[in-house]
Amino acid sequence: MAWLQFPDNFLWGAATASYQIEGATQEDGRGPSIWDTFAAEPGNVHGGDTGDPACDHYHRYKDDVALMKRIGLDAYRFSIAWPRILPQGTGTVNQAGIDFYNRLVDELLANDIQPWVTLYHWDLPQALQDRGGWPNRMIVDAYVNYVDVVSKALGDRVNHWMTFNEPWVFTYIGYTEGRHAPGGHDWSDFLKGAHNVLLAHANSVPVLRQNTQTEAKIGIVLNLAWAEAVSVKEEDRAAAQRLMSFQNAWFADPLYYGRYPNDMLELYQSLMPDVSPDDLQIIHRGRPDFLGVNFYRREVVKFDPDAGLLQVKSVRQPGEHTEMEWEVSPKGIYNILKYAHETYHPGDIYVTENGAAFRDEVEDGAVHDPRRVNFYQAYLANCHRALQAGVPLRGYFAWSLLDNFEWAFGYSKRFGLTYVDYKTQARILKDSGKWYSQTIADNGFNYEGEARG
Ligand code: FCB
Repeated sequence: MAWLQFPDNFLWGAATASYQIEGATQEDGRGPSIWDTFAAEPGNVHGGDTGDPACDHYHRYKDDVALMKRIGLDAYRFSIAWPRILPQGTGTVNQAGIDFYNRLVDELLANDIQPWVTLYHWDLPQALQDRGGWPNRMIVDAYVNYVDVVSKALGDRVNHWMTFNEPWVFTYIGYTEGRHAPGGHDWSDFLKGAHNVLLAHANSVPVLRQNTQTEAKIGIVLNLAWAEAVSVKEEDRAAAQRLMSFQNAWFADPLYYGRYPNDMLELYQSLMPDVSPDDLQIIHRGRPDFLGVNFYRREVVKFDPDAGLLQVKSVRQPGEHTEMEWEVSPKGIYNILKYAHETYHPGDIYVTENGAAFRDEVEDGAVHDPRRVNFYQAYLANCHRALQAGVPLRGYFAWSLLDNFEWAFGYSKRFGLTYVDYKTQARILKDSGKWYSQTIADNGFNYEGEARG
């Protein structure tokens, strides 16, 4: 048993995203998003679930902020729904949308909780998808204009901005794999989309600087993969390396080094769009102030000549898995934090998402979720270990504050520190939420396991 003490100014938070919690998709002038369209099509989302009612957070935000206060959060990471601000993506601003986020930010500040704003967490206005979406370069200016509108409205009070959540997921899974909106199946759309996202990020940085306070910090959130080879065979090791280039270097190399990784360029060849050296310079100049890392699980992989363009196949490991079928692999978070620090020297690093879906049941008004408590303990123990190894990890955001709409899985996967009864919208703080609350209060916790676990 060891007491793991975190640094005095370590930031404790929880995260959500607009489409996953807000509901009210047709209220107060919000325009349709690609997730409304995608979810409406049978077969795309488990059980035919949609973004309504989600957690009805749009109406219950005050109660939800009270819940955050009860947990003791220092910071709350949430995203802004672009279609609430600009229902058509560009053009007329919807003041009612801005008012909602003004109220939310004010409520957070009144409760001493820092607002951490993600500008894009996947709910693209449908009108922009109708013009080609992320693969069409027109989106860069549309995004920068949107960021200008939001940061002019909130920049006097919001000091932490994240331009994008997980570019790899919404460009690759959205435009190539088709499991996410808008359901595309084209490799070159992923590459065009990813490039436009990086440009949009970089071009929005000066706008954010202009519209916010001098102490404001700008970040980007990447879902970095930690891949391990299933054997010592060279082809398996190369497969693990390829997965990390595909998911990590493809986004981080342009930002931190101003170039795309060569191994991937060789693989993509003619799929690649024209990329001017100027673009790469612009992207490199858009290096963020901090890096947000979302991490859930390691990947164990092997070479498989039949596994698509990448020829990489995941190999299920024995041992514990969450409801998502994700391996509980806490050491991965230590490895990925060290890798991010040593490969990219991004300065301040935050874990912007980490958590687990387990099957939860309400018993006498309580939710006992010991597996989630164990999960948080083991992953946080490895964050602590990363701190001791010199990684400038400044804070940690649990995913998620609430059970919510888990994309293609609908409401079938519960990630919350808080249980949500979707029929009554009652919230119940789970045992894991109580444990997290105590950990924040103590700025540390007793850990019985092995940090190396
Ligand atoms: C991440 C997403 C987040 C949530 C978690 C489980 O990829 O950013 O919205 O769905 O996974």
